[in-house]
Amino acid sequence: MVQKKVPSPRLKSKHPTTARADAIALLKKQHVEVAQLFKRLERASGRSAQAKLFEKLASMLVGHDAIEREIFYPACEKAMGRTDLLSEALVEHGVVEFSLYQADEARMADDFSAKCQVLSEIVAHHVKEEQDDFFPKVEKAIDKKQLQRLGAQMRARFEKAMTEDFRAPLRRNLGQVLTGTLKPAPGKPTIRLKDSKPKRRNAA
Ligand SMILES: [Fe+2]
Ligand SMILES: [Fe+2]
Repeated sequence: MVQKKVPSPRLKSKHPTTARADAIALLKKQHVEVAQLFKRLERASGRSAQAKLFEKLASMLVGHDAIEREIFYPACEKAMGRTDLLSEALVEHGVVEFSLYQADEARMADDFSAKCQVLSEIVAHHVKEEQDDFFPKVEKAIDKKQLQRLGAQMRARFEKAMTEDFRAPLRRNLGQVLTGTLKPAPGKPTIRLKDSKPKRRNAA
């Protein structure tokens, strides 16, 4: 009697695990999670619930910024050159960071919701351009295996970012954006961002 071959559960699965997702699948998944957090933040009532969601959202945004800016975008530049879309994406990351910094500074102020709304709109605009215009070009320029290797590096970097307070890297990145954009007047001190005590991250 011939025994029926039973396919292994791994091969049968239609949904690759996060651990095997390539760079673009990972970024798209995080885009969805960020959009969901913005929705939850919009609906949350009470300062404490809002603060907890904001901490989580801000950590995700800073971690996402790190994996794109440090790993994904440089790999794209190597494969495709410094295209207009890539330059635009980098500028938009600076705008997102500035808007996130403003929202964080307004945590206890009346205009916190307004600043979160602006942040949400800027992020949504950037995500739409990445997914509609940029990612399809990247998928043509970088092969699947390389995207998987990048995905593994990005996942490790993101996990590390999630263990750190988001404020220090946010201020450092934003300081670099400002230094690259504004030339200090002769004899004037370098731009310094307002410092505040780092807060412990809330557990996810
Ligand atoms: Fe981005
Ligand atoms: Fe992104």
